[in-house]
Amino acid sequence: MTAKELKKKFVDFFLDHGHLEIPSASIIPENDPTTLFISAGMHPLVPYLSGQTHPLGKRLVNVQKCIRTGDIDEVGDCHHHTFFEMLGNWSLGDYFKKESISWSLEFLTKHLKINPSEISVTCFEGDKNAPKDNESAQIWQDLGIAKIKFLPAVDNWWGPAGQTGPCGPDTEIFFNGLEIWNNVFMQYLKTANGKFQKLPKPNVDTGMGVERTVAILNGFNDDYLTSIWTPIIKKIEDISGKKYQDSPRPFRIIADHIRSAVFVIADGIEPSNKEAGYVLRRLIRRAIVQAQDLGIKNNFVTTLAETIINNKKNYAGDYDFDTKKIKIILAQEEQKFRSTLDRGLKEIEKLITNDNLSGLNAFNLYQSFGFPLELIKEEVEKRHYKLASDFTDQFNQAKLSHIKLSQTLSAGKFKSGLADHSDITTKYHTATHLLQSALKKTLGEQVHQAGSNLTASRLRFDFNYPDKLTEKQITKIENLVNLAIKSALPVVSKNMPLSTAIASGALHLASAQYPDTVSVYTIPGFSQEICIGPHVSNTSELGFFKITKQESAGSGKRRLYAVLDKI
Ligand code: ALA
Repeated sequence: MTAKELKKKFVDFFLDHGHLEIPSASIIPENDPTTLFISAGMHPLVPYLSGQTHPLGKRLVNVQKCIRTGDIDEVGDCHHHTFFEMLGNWSLGDYFKKESISWSLEFLTKHLKINPSEISVTCFEGDKNAPKDNESAQIWQDLGIAKIKFLPAVDNWWGPAGQTGPCGPDTEIFFNGLEIWNNVFMQYLKTANGKFQKLPKPNVDTGMGVERTVAILNGFNDDYLTSIWTPIIKKIEDISGKKYQDSPRPFRIIADHIRSAVFVIADGIEPSNKEAGYVLRRLIRRAIVQAQDLGIKNNFVTTLAETIINNKKNYAGDYDFDTKKIKIILAQEEQKFRSTLDRGLKEIEKLITNDNLSGLNAFNLYQSFGFPLELIKEEVEKRHYKLASDFTDQFNQAKLSHIKLSQTLSAGKFKSGLADHSDITTKYHTATHLLQSALKKTLGEQVHQAGSNLTASRLRFDFNYPDKLTEKQITKIENLVNLAIKSALPVVSKNMPLSTAIASGALHLASAQYPDTVSVYTIPGFSQEICIGPHVSNTSELGFFKITKQESAGSGKRRLYAVLDKI
């Protein structure tokens, strides 16, 4: 079974059970300041899982593009990927455990033809936050599944996707010992102070990884042997002259990382030294270093990207890749890194003392040039030098201190960044709508949003505009937003068909895919946007709006930072 067939079967099954399909959201979260990428199908649905009404109703299904960077160092084995697609079905306060579990079993056994005797499951064993999930276990048992294990929260509790939000116990489904599906029973909301509140209505959130499931269904114990990956692997074989089977690890890393890079760039990110841009840079660089290992010394990234784009029929949604733009960005980054790589390789020579390389110096190479440890060891050997006697200890020690430092830094970011969907982020979200409208009024209707990021202490807004804004323009924009705030305008949300919303002139993102019915948020006389929300109910809640900084956000794009005072 191909990925495409699996996706179709999954979506069709849930359509037949009263669900409506929603398109995949962008991989870059719009309103969650605590994470860089969408990591699960439920992530863009957080407002609805928290109680807001979804315009398409209470039963949804989709295929969502996801990125998980947590285990980027694991990529290289048979099952880990940074970018992947997730199949999911949701009940927003509608059906619960019984239907969810029965339908999962029906889909697996009747539609994927899995023998029930090969299915085993795990359920939540309970802790101080939530009770043991006997109910799910009973349902499985009644359906004839005998292999049931109870496990603690590390295994059988899922979420929230960011620092706060909906979460709950889950039941995981295994086929021949490999996890294939996760059904989460979202009954709790984790709040900023770490407490678990009961949600007004319980939800179901499920997730099935396409890459892994296709491999398992085809009897492969290596995800990279399926047709999702083979054209990419084949291309790397052509470029390197080496065989996948002889050294699968670098092949997997290159294939995974460049595929992720293509999708991240397609969703509007460019390599940089910050946040998502930095992750993108690391992905490209790691792939190049691995390619170096395979003996690929010439530029190859754009060729591989082309193969990935040419296989877009394998992926969810109607991808309209801007191939030219993606290739330009990748080519620039590869060129830049190749010169760093040359410098780094020369640097090794300088770091040798008494024919030895210390663990600390190796860590610095690893850290500053992105060289993996294997490459460093190999380069040292090639030059007939040795690793210092306490090399491994020193390297690990340096790595540990670095991890601790970055964890402290990111904890700081989260603290000042705060909690998704809090009152204050909501205010910044509404301010973003006012800002977009003020930008159009000041700079022209052609201006539109190219990215947005909210924290508790500021908003950040990217838009297409070629020039630096003048003092006068900035003042005018601030005055327009403050006028809307002073006018105490209501913020009204209405559900309507997508075509009606677009015909009525509601702003929307050109790059996003929307469902057939959407919510439109209107601030009368000022702004009308297709949006998930949430928003304040009256603009008077926003205090005083001030632009604090402007900068370039890449070619033809500007970035503004703004704060709300007196709120
Ligand atoms: N959100 C759940 C997961 O990612 C389904 O496993």
